[in-house]
Amino acid sequence: MTSRTVEPPGAEPEYGSLVRDDRVHRTLYTEPSVFADEMERIFGRTWVYLGHESEIPEPHDFKLTNLGTRPVILSRDEEGTARAFFNRCSHRGVTVCNEARGNAPRFVCSYHGWTYSSAGDLLNVPFPSGMDDSFDPAEWGLHHLERVESYRGFVFGVLSAEAPPLAEHLGAAAALIDEWVDRAPDGEIVVRHGVRRVAARANWKLYLDGAADGLHPFATHRSFVEMSARHRDGLFISQFRRNPDETPMYSRVLGGGHQYLDQRPGMGGRVWDATRPAPGTEASVADLEQRYGSETTPEILERTTVAGMNVFVFPNLSLVDNSIGVVQPREVNRTEVLWHVTSLAGAEPESLPLRLRIGEDFPNFGDPDDIENWERAQRGLELVPDVEWLHTGRGDDGEEGADYGVTNEAPMRAYQREWLRLMQHRGGENP
Ligand code: FES
Ligand SMILES: [Fe+2]
Repeated sequence: MTSRTVEPPGAEPEYGSLVRDDRVHRTLYTEPSVFADEMERIFGRTWVYLGHESEIPEPHDFKLTNLGTRPVILSRDEEGTARAFFNRCSHRGVTVCNEARGNAPRFVCSYHGWTYSSAGDLLNVPFPSGMDDSFDPAEWGLHHLERVESYRGFVFGVLSAEAPPLAEHLGAAAALIDEWVDRAPDGEIVVRHGVRRVAARANWKLYLDGAADGLHPFATHRSFVEMSARHRDGLFISQFRRNPDETPMYSRVLGGGHQYLDQRPGMGGRVWDATRPAPGTEASVADLEQRYGSETTPEILERTTVAGMNVFVFPNLSLVDNSIGVVQPREVNRTEVLWHVTSLAGAEPESLPLRLRIGEDFPNFGDPDDIENWERAQRGLELVPDVEWLHTGRGDDGEEGADYGVTNEAPMRAYQREWLRLMQHRGGENP
């Protein structure tokens, strides 16, 4: 066996030695202690996506979410402000809310009945005459996240008081979120259609590795690529049949670990023209043409189809097609990705079924391919400790904001540098 780079249990790992210019160490994906540090130093320190404003539109609406592995309630209080606090009773730690979403002016703990408001304040404890005078309910509310801010309806929370403002954290990703949201006639997207939960026996960073990876589709999604090409050359995903670096598609390093892949230039001038047929397409198009005329309908179809943009906001938010993906680490080798299909505020209601059907296309064909390869990677990394490194060195790194051919692994290396920056920071204040 080759000598191991990782320190014995108990020693502080030298993360700097595990992330190099052209390789990273397998233990980033396999070591429970690394995962535990990630929950503290990444999810416990940087801005994390929690949910969308439209999921909790009314006072007292709530949904359960997570900050890394910590359970969190995202709630709208009586005044209409979005709040986020741990789903953890201040008395003895019980999860006080056990429904995925709903409307509740009170959260009543099932153990001893401590009762909290939708703002997380402790309202009462049972039989209060038994409590000492020194007991101050203001001190025992549900523990709030340090800050909660939203951008274009996307609600983020952070545990660190010193974190930069959300807009600063988003940096260059903000303009791409704008572009994605501005497809909506009223400038807002709406999340109201349930959630599709994808589970993989794989480390959460395997999702991040692929967030702007244009190299894998020709192999991972080969049957999908071939099927589309057989149907019609130029149809979505068939653009990956040839060398994708010879197409005008590009990826971009956005800074802060955020990544971007723009597939639109590889799909021809109009994305609708490359859209794969979905159940009901012809009937929906005919219906739209009848109602809105043949002049306006192409415009409607262009915003009904997929966005053609893959935007990844480190560490857990993904905008792909018309859906919001939330990367949810569960254990070092277990991850869920929660997909929320979106609709566009102000869009023609008749276009919605078509938008939903089109939104199901890639998940039906592509997700099983991706998950299979993440799980195969996890098995290889766990079962063969003798081979320590993964290669990440394809292509050169340019300046921040530079565009790349889509097989360049620069976006992956860039998020790994942000990962390293956070993981190496041990002090109290924000890095
Ligand atoms: S643990 Fe919640 S009331 Fe006791
Ligand atoms: Fe994929």
